[in-house]
Amino acid sequence: MKINTLTRIGFILAVAGSAIGLGNIWKFPYMTGQMGGGAFVLVYLLTVVFVGISLLIAEMLIGRSTQKDCYGAFETLSKNAPVSFKFAGFMAFSGLLILTFYTVVIGWIFHYLFLAMSGSLAADPKVSEGMFMTFLQQDIISQALNHLLAVGVVGYIVYKGMKKGIENTNLILMPLLIVIFLGLVFYAFSLPTFTKAFHFMFDFDFSKIDSHTILMAVGHSFFTLSIGMGAIMTYSASAPKSSSLFKDALTIAILDTLFALVAGLVIFTFLFGFSDEPSKGAGLVFISLPMVFAQMGFVGFIVGILFFIALSFAALTSAISILEPSIKIATERYGMSRAKAIVLFSVIVYVIGFFALISNSTMYGQSLTFGGKNLFDWLDFFTTAFLLPIGGIIIAIFVGFVIPKEIREQELHQYSHTFIYKIWLFSIRYIAPIGVLGIILNESGILG
Ligand code: PHE
Repeated sequence: MKINTLTRIGFILAVAGSAIGLGNIWKFPYMTGQMGGGAFVLVYLLTVVFVGISLLIAEMLIGRSTQKDCYGAFETLSKNAPVSFKFAGFMAFSGLLILTFYTVVIGWIFHYLFLAMSGSLAADPKVSEGMFMTFLQQDIISQALNHLLAVGVVGYIVYKGMKKGIENTNLILMPLLIVIFLGLVFYAFSLPTFTKAFHFMFDFDFSKIDSHTILMAVGHSFFTLSIGMGAIMTYSASAPKSSSLFKDALTIAILDTLFALVAGLVIFTFLFGFSDEPSKGAGLVFISLPMVFAQMGFVGFIVGILFFIALSFAALTSAISILEPSIKIATERYGMSRAKAIVLFSVIVYVIGFFALISNSTMYGQSLTFGGKNLFDWLDFFTTAFLLPIGGIIIAIFVGFVIPKEIREQELHQYSHTFIYKIWLFSIRYIAPIGVLGIILNESGILG
């Protein structure tokens, strides 16, 4: 089989492109707002450091050492083990579930990009909020069309393949995203409410930490690092053999975390300028930022357009990484043509996503709400808080105990006898599986 090996920078940008996405710019700020600020941020940061980075390395190791699709990778590495781990390849399909609501949100971004370009963002807080709520709850047709566009764009890029589609897209879009973001930070930094935003995010109030906050923060650290569904594994199947997985994983985790923290600071700085209510939820980015752009006059017009372009880039580079694992399985394992596989999965994603989207509407919301959450929120919650952490636990046990020791050492050759390696192995074997499982059991009421 011919492998399309990426360049080192292409690989790092592709994985960073996967990691940096809606999780950082849309979800992280609004979750921080809802969970009361610093406490959530602290648990998230601790999980990234003690579990996330180790798992990132583990997933890269599985992918790069086998150069196969998810199923193939688990199968190959557990060939001589007492139990086959082939089943673990299922995790690629958690991605399809994530993609359903992910593409809906990309549709929202497209909608706001059009609004920004036509100069229709609203400067008044009430109007801006009203605009988003009407769009969300009543405008099913325009949401459905934007969702269609989102699924189409994602499918098209993935169709172009690993190098031409995925690597090239990342090489262009990621640097652009970084530049736009730096601009926004400098602007936010000059505003009086920056300090307040800083305190909101970094004053750790331990009384606000409960089992639910912990589960959400842990789940989010998996989501934001793209861990637990084979995206990193699949990209790593095309990784250059020579690069150091420790260094690459660290670079990516740092970039991803910086993006989230900066996005949070920027958004809360803007928000606190006119309101004290950080718990707006999913609408945060679509209500507070557009308003600030509208207030800034012509500069805001340009910045607003750039921001939504950047946001759509960030989201697209993640979305393609969520789809690719399933496509790789369908084409390499089941011999489907790339085009067919993409059409098949896009239709599934579109249809489920459509139901998720109308579950936010006033008209159909009621009938698509179960146990206090609508379908959209369920998809998000179930994948982030359960499927990804469970995928992560399986990866940790697999790399820690099941695969041959030689594979671990050969992939991490520069480090295989060092202290760092031992810490990594300890984290993979004990901290990650026991810690994450404990948290899931605790939240689901099985423990304690
Ligand atoms: N990490 C992406 C984000 O933060 C989402 C993602 C999840 C991508 C799982 C791949 C796998 O938006």
